[in-house]
Amino acid sequence: MKKRIVLLPGDGIGKEVMNSAKEVLTAIAEEYNHSFSFETHEIGGAAIDQYGTPLPETTVDACKQADAVLLGAVGGPKWDNNPSHLRPERGLLGIRKALDLYANLRPIKGFKNLLPASPLKEEVVSGSDLLIVRELTGGIYFGSPSERRENGQVVVDTLSYTRQEIERIIDKAFQAAQGRRGRLTSVDKANVLESSKMWREIVEEKKAQYPDVAVEHLLVDAAAMKLITNPSHFDVIVTENMFGDILSDEASVLTGSLGMLPSASLNEAGVGLYEPVHGSAPDIAGKGIANPTAMILSAALMLRYSFGLEDEAKIIEDAVQSVLDAGYHTADLRIAGGFQVGTAEMTKLIVDYIRTVSASKCIASCYF
Ligand code: IPM
Ligand code: MN
Repeated sequence: MKKRIVLLPGDGIGKEVMNSAKEVLTAIAEEYNHSFSFETHEIGGAAIDQYGTPLPETTVDACKQADAVLLGAVGGPKWDNNPSHLRPERGLLGIRKALDLYANLRPIKGFKNLLPASPLKEEVVSGSDLLIVRELTGGIYFGSPSERRENGQVVVDTLSYTRQEIERIIDKAFQAAQGRRGRLTSVDKANVLESSKMWREIVEEKKAQYPDVAVEHLLVDAAAMKLITNPSHFDVIVTENMFGDILSDEASVLTGSLGMLPSASLNEAGVGLYEPVHGSAPDIAGKGIANPTAMILSAALMLRYSFGLEDEAKIIEDAVQSVLDAGYHTADLRIAGGFQVGTAEMTKLIVDYIRTVSASKCIASCYF
């Protein structure tokens, strides 16, 4: 298979973990006879420094022409005091909008030997396996007006959705639930917000089309509590942009570290952008200690969702599991009796597993 992949490393540890993903994908291409070409472009703070804008046209054009996009992370203290339109985050929001990546899928599954690393009791997190479907191109992140008024005495942000924007993300979530355990929790704030009332109505309208999915509604505050008191209650959660942002960081504690969580952002054409849920972690950037797992698992999601390469996605996920099982972990994780390694070593362990196991598979299936 021949594919063009655009890499947007961005800022901070984004650059380091992107190198890891590229190494893993190169190993996959060699072992499974694919041809992946990589083209790197700037976004976020790096783009501000080089081009004076967080999202250069060249980056948008390259992404539009790619088969898939991998993104590291954006942001850092250097640009924190920039005006809104010159903040690195604008680049990220801009590319999501430009590619119409309305569906953000954030799978959260605890790795067994990381369960003791969670600040939650092991018996609470054990067995949790959920998917957050976050609406990504609407809501309060994009509503207009968003401005200061009356000499800075008044400030306004706008939470707006069209019916069609809500319908398409709800459909996506029902379909995801059909492919999993058939349970959908729609999260809103329908006791206060008009947008949430409409969201809830649309879920109610749609559920007749998906009789095999059991639906419940939960207010976002209650959902936040349930997520850490009884996470295995959940299968698929669907929610609007900002609620999904907050709940997915919260859900990451189930896995022991934000450094483990990948995400996929898809549009109607199925073109995807894949990025870790974590940010650019400026405090540890450049030290070679960042956990590359979330980025590597994001590359696995790319292989699965954009290219339909299930075996290749699976071997990456197995590699991560096996390296953790052997006790290796980065500084953000604790494994009792384990071995702490840096970004490069963690990546090498994952690549070595892929090369060894895919080679032995080939011996089994190609020669005997
Ligand atoms: C995320 C991030 C972004 C978001 C920021 C960096 C704009 O927190 O992808 O979750 O809020 O969407
Ligand atoms: Mn976030």
